[in-house]
Order: sequence, then C-alpha cells, then structure tokens
Amino acid sequence: MNIPKADIVLGDETVLRYDVEFDAKRFIRETKFELLRRFDVAKAFVKSRDMMLREVEAIRAKHDAELTVIPQVEYHEIVKGAVEEPFRDLVRRRGCVIVKGVFDRIQVSEWNHEIGEYIDRNDYLTAANKKKDLDKYFSGLEDANPQIFSLYWSRPQIMARQAESMATTKRFLNRLYNISGPMGPEFDPENDFAYADRIRRRQPGDTTLGLSPHMDSGSYERWCDPAYQAIYRLIYEGDIQGFDPWKAAFRTQTREYASPSVCSMFRTFQGWTALTPQGPGDGTLSLLPIAKSISYFLLRALQEDVAEDDLCGALPGRALGASPEWHNEILEGLISIPIVEPGDTVWWHPDVIHSVANEHQGDDYANVIYVGASPVCAKNEAYARRQAYAFQVGRSAPDFAAEDYEVNFEGRATVDDLTELGRRQLHIS
Ligand SMILES: [Fe+2]
Repeated sequence: MNIPKADIVLGDETVLRYDVEFDAKRFIRETKFELLRRFDVAKAFVKSRDMMLREVEAIRAKHDAELTVIPQVEYHEIVKGAVEEPFRDLVRRRGCVIVKGVFDRIQVSEWNHEIGEYIDRNDYLTAANKKKDLDKYFSGLEDANPQIFSLYWSRPQIMARQAESMATTKRFLNRLYNISGPMGPEFDPENDFAYADRIRRRQPGDTTLGLSPHMDSGSYERWCDPAYQAIYRLIYEGDIQGFDPWKAAFRTQTREYASPSVCSMFRTFQGWTALTPQGPGDGTLSLLPIAKSISYFLLRALQEDVAEDDLCGALPGRALGASPEWHNEILEGLISIPIVEPGDTVWWHPDVIHSVANEHQGDDYANVIYVGASPVCAKNEAYARRQAYAFQVGRSAPDFAAEDYEVNFEGRATVDDLTELGRRQLHIS
C-alpha cells in the first residue's frame, strides 16, 4: 500500500516516511470508491447535517445568552462520587468537559514559576535557536520566541502527570466510555500510561501560535483505516442516532501514519492543565462541542462535489482540518472555553474539533501543561516502552522531533522523583 521513500529518525526510533502525494491519492480514491459502492452516503449525510445544524443552533443560542455550553464540574464532586448521570450524558453529547480545581492554585503557580526557572537556568532559547533547523515540522515558529516549549521532563510536568488527583480525574473520564470490545475490554479505564507532551507558554500579544479548527488522532486514516471503518460503520449506514462515540471497540486498533504531528498513543481525551488564568481573547482553546461532529466530516467528503481522490483536504501526517470551503455551516458552533483558573483542566474527545486563537489579546501569559488521558492497552504499552528510555536519558519523547534539549538540563526530573504510580505510568520497574 505505502511506498517507503526516505527514513526519518524520531527519538531512538527510525520511522519510514512515505511518498505522500502519490500514495495517498491512490489510496483515497480506492477507499472512496469502495465506501460509495457499499453505502448510501447522500442519504446518511442529510441525517448527519440535520443533527449538526440543530446542535450548532442550540450551542449558538446558549452561547449568545451567556449560558454555559461546555460542561464544567468541580474536582471535589468527582471525589465525592456526586456526579449525576445526566451530567455524564451531557459530557457525552458535548464531547468535552472542564474539571475545575484538580490542583491547588498555589501549587500550580509555583510549578509555573519553576518551569520558567528551568527554561532560564538551562538557557533553553539559545539551545532552541541552535537546533531549530532540526524541527522542520514546526518551523512556523522559527522567527519568533517559542510559545510551545519542547520540554517533556521538567519536575512540574512529572508532578502533574503522576498526581493522584490527575489519576482520579482520568478514571472519571475513562469511565464515560463503554469499554467492551470483540476481544474483551478495549482498555483498562482504571490505569494509565503517561504520555509525555510539551508545555505552552503563550506571551501576551503573540500571533504565531494560531491553529485553525482541526481534529487530531488521524486524518485520511479516519476513512481509510479498517479499524476506523469499523468504529464509524453506523455513520456510513446512516444510523447517526445509533453511532456512539463512546463505544471504545476498535479505538485502540487504529493505525496512524507515522509523523511528528501524530500521537502514537490512544487517548480517551486530549487535555491540558492551566498554569495561569485564561479564557476568551487570551489566545487559548476553542471547541466545537458536538461529540458526533465526525459524522458530518466523514460524509461531507463523500458527497458528489468533492473530487474522487480528495477527502476535503485530509492528508497523511497532517491534522484533519475543518475549512470554510467545506465545513463553514458547522464552524459557527466553535466557541472559546470560558475563563479557567490555575489548576483547572480542560478535556476533549479525540473526535472533537478544536482550534487555538491567532492572537493572544490578554495581558498575561497563557500557560498550560499538556496532559491527556491515555489508558492502559497494548497500543499505549508499546509506546510507553519506547518513551521510558527517552525519560531516563532526557531525550525528547519519541512522538516528537528529536531536539533532545533536556539531555544536559540541570534540574530535570529523574527516576528518584517518581512515585510508585509515576513509575507504573512510565513503564519503569
Ligand atoms: Fe489539536
């Protein structure tokens, strides 16, 4: 299927790169042909579109009336077991949730300060300037101060990942899924592996970090990969009502095109922890809070006005973008998160469209630590093994460009900083 063209090295692994243009176009054409042969996608799209337009209208009406759209819950309510089923259903419908107060505000402010010191003490900016040519995939940041720092192993990141309150939050989130699969449970909702991601420190006035609306965890794969086809089968059959984004079966079996912008772990939720207060206008996150948006995406690309070798622009190794050309009518539902405080966490389902505002118009840094929910399963264990080595020697996490700044950084977290839980999460015995 894929034709290897050149090797690229990521972390301690060598990954094959493919001839994207040739390979993807042929593969997309063949997949579309097959899907169009098997399903009445025009009829299915009418149903999906109706559902989406109704949801977008409801979101807009609430948002304009300044009512809460993105569900929010206090962490202590989760600990008490006081979260009611209607709230869980709302999260399932919206595909996102803000869990407030997962960490103590003062603790988090200290972490924010400590990360700043870690960056300064080790002169990150000089090191980054020397190595920036290596990181070609994120080269949009070349001429500006970095807003995303390729740091994975600072002490505060380790503390956030291995915190008991984080583990409790993730269990709550993982349990929103129906984990039963054809070969037994798809994943273990009670335990997770750490996925080492980076840090965002966004300066007031920054205009370099905008991300247009997109979905992660696969782009053309969502149509072409056999596991994704199984996950989305009811959508193609036109049963939008019956399609359940929280049915985990096959979700850990998907195979994504290897590239530095693609996450190798299965995440039940993407997420981050706020280190500073941030909200509308602060160059932070917007979400299209509809868990079933993927039905619109899949079916839109199969309509007659889209070329036979095109999936509304979806290509290997890129995020799946929502564009004004193809998806304009649903993008009105994209809304900013409300103001969150240090220690609050924001979470969204892997099928949820999100974006980052082009400009940070606020007065203070908008800083976050990226921490998603990546439960124990075979796919995540395989990655955790590779990641454990990177942690021990301070290299960049294997999914990211091999900048390896922290190899010689003073104050980097070590095995001695890990709790029992932290060791398990990092697959270190
Ligand atoms: Fe994203």
